[in-house]
Amino acid sequence: MDNARLSINDQEVEFPVTVGTEQEVGFDIRKLRGQTGAITVDPGFANTGSCHSEITFIDGEKGVLRYRGYSIEDLAEHSTFLDVAYLLIYGSLPTREELDGFNTEITRHSLLHEDMKKFFEGYPASAPPMSVLSTIVASLSAYYPSGNSEEEVNLNIIRLIAKLNTIAAFSYKKSIGQPYIYPRNDLGYAADFLHMMFAVPSEDYEINALIARTLDMLLILHADHEQNCSTSTVRMVGSSGADLFSSISAGISALSGPLHGGANTAVINMLEMIRQDGGNFQKYVEKAKDKDDPFRLMGFGHRVYKNFDPRARVIKKSADEVLGQLGINDPLLDLAKQLERIALEDDYFRERGLYPNVDFYSGILYRAMGIPTNMFTVMFALGRLPGWIAQWMEMKNDPNTRINRPRQIYTGHNHRHYVQIGHRAIQE
Ligand SMILES: CC(C)(COP(=O)(O)OP(=O)(O)OC[C@H]1O[C@@H](n2cnc3c(N)ncnc32)[C@H](O)[C@@H]1OP(=O)(O)O)[C@@H](O)C(=O)NCCC(=O)NCCS
Repeated sequence: MDNARLSINDQEVEFPVTVGTEQEVGFDIRKLRGQTGAITVDPGFANTGSCHSEITFIDGEKGVLRYRGYSIEDLAEHSTFLDVAYLLIYGSLPTREELDGFNTEITRHSLLHEDMKKFFEGYPASAPPMSVLSTIVASLSAYYPSGNSEEEVNLNIIRLIAKLNTIAAFSYKKSIGQPYIYPRNDLGYAADFLHMMFAVPSEDYEINALIARTLDMLLILHADHEQNCSTSTVRMVGSSGADLFSSISAGISALSGPLHGGANTAVINMLEMIRQDGGNFQKYVEKAKDKDDPFRLMGFGHRVYKNFDPRARVIKKSADEVLGQLGINDPLLDLAKQLERIALEDDYFRERGLYPNVDFYSGILYRAMGIPTNMFTVMFALGRLPGWIAQWMEMKNDPNTRINRPRQIYTGHNHRHYVQIGHRAIQE
């Protein structure tokens, strides 16, 4: 493809084309402002590439998602979460020895500094677990050196993956007033999380292997999604030179919003609302289509996927199997399926490419595992962590990284003369 040429008045400027390994095309406009004085305006950054990246490839039209070249379907079926975390962070699937070493390191760092328990104690029981998660992660930079050497950064990566599991489970225990359950080194990552969430000191807790494997698979499906809102936040904060813990803490905050990670909770709340309203899903489809009504079908639509979300397919299949095997009959699953069917037959949703996204069915699986609704977004954060770390590392090692600092088109007042307080009129 040729370079792009832009003519502004009688000036012509040329922008080099940049083509990715999957033939994605971009124009490099780094010289635009210097040569013309003008900038581009792209609210929501839907047309803006913020970096070159080797980590994750998405083809939204074809419903393709690959981590480091491997398809999400293969990884979900054959890998473990820590296998995928290694792949994302270090670039290749680990050998058995490498994976064993990685596993061992992670299990050895899963304890929290005992003093950190005081943080949990300071929160009200009603504190949203995502707020607890982001603040405790930010506080890790007060406990561990910020990572100036490669060795320190690597150690902080291990610490973060290991401790996020524990922090997440402790935040839940705090919210229900139960004693914290310490991690166990003989358990896998997902199994250990379930044990820290659901065990109590007074009796044995048996881990259900199917639930542990399903959770591990859900974490894999969430592990990266290229330059989404929270990942871009992690990169942006890191671009200022902020350390890993601070950058990831900011990413957790970005993920908490209902248009991003918070959507899985919003889906369950919406399905519950529809159920309590007599299950009249057609009414809610109509509300979602009504431009005067702010209601949207939660779990539908995606900035990138305009055909189907491959993660949603894997989860939907798994939801059927897991609920079947666990003998759970969840009316919300039936409602979700009916809603999906009605919406997919409707021209409004078809024309706009609105399909169920990853959040539509994941909440139903979390419910089946006994994970409470207010922990759903925390589960998303646990899964997304290796992706955030990989993207942060790539940003840090990229010689093209500059501090992220977008421009704007100013639309406020022109210069105004200062008015002393005694002369100010009340604004109507
Ligand atoms: C994901 C989401 C934020 C993407 O937003 P976006 O790329 O900015 O897309 P837009 O908001 O511009 O939507 C495009 C069109 O589809 C409509 N639309 C998008 N999602 C919709 C939904 N869930 N329900 C009803 N209409 C929807 C918009 O109203 C808009 O219609 P218009 O072209 O007639 O104005 C958006 O689809 C959404 O809010 N979905 C629900 C929340 C959710 O599930 N988020 C999780 C994402 S993984």
